[in-house]
Amino acid sequence: MARPAPASAAVATAATLAAAAESLDALKAALAGYDGCALAKTATNLVFGDGSASARVVLIGEAPGAEEDRQGVPFVGVSGKLLDQMLASIALDRAQVFISNTVFWRPPGNRSPTSQEVAACMPFVIRMIELIRPAMLVALGGPAATALLGRSESVSRLRGRWFTFEGARIDPIPATALFHPAYLLRSPGQKRQAWRDLLAIKKRLSDA
Ligand code: URA
Repeated sequence: MARPAPASAAVATAATLAAAAESLDALKAALAGYDGCALAKTATNLVFGDGSASARVVLIGEAPGAEEDRQGVPFVGVSGKLLDQMLASIALDRAQVFISNTVFWRPPGNRSPTSQEVAACMPFVIRMIELIRPAMLVALGGPAATALLGRSESVSRLRGRWFTFEGARIDPIPATALFHPAYLLRSPGQKRQAWRDLLAIKKRLSDA
């Protein structure tokens, strides 16, 4: 049996494959043939992303759950329903945004993805953002904010602030963090802040 490739080799392979993709379809096909992330072995489906290839907003969550794994579509379970409502509150729907995750396969038992698993997927996430060239990037929850913004603070410290996402092949993009919808379901008292953050996103989009 082949030994798993060292993490750095997987990341280098991911970077080469992702850089060669010139469309989202090509990127998805490259991911489907990529064996550098161990999560692919236990998942049922690749959960690539959902939405428009010309979206003005890209939202990145943490990892697919059971329903996402079944359908191969991100945010289709209970937290996805809340995410749809959050988008609707600022007159957006899935056809106008693009939604994905820091990893493209469900971690077994819904555990958090490891830093190696995230690193093995990140070149594809970054290339996805480069191909879409959105006006804005939104990290859903702390792990996505850490992976995309390189910030180690908790999401409660990052939300409501603006950062810059730097991709190698695009101009810098304004980026922010929102409470993850799954967290809001557990802590409904935080919804007021999340709705305030959504209004700031709406305003920034209308100014852009
Ligand atoms: N939570 C996430 O972070 N991503 C999904 O796709 C679903 C739930």
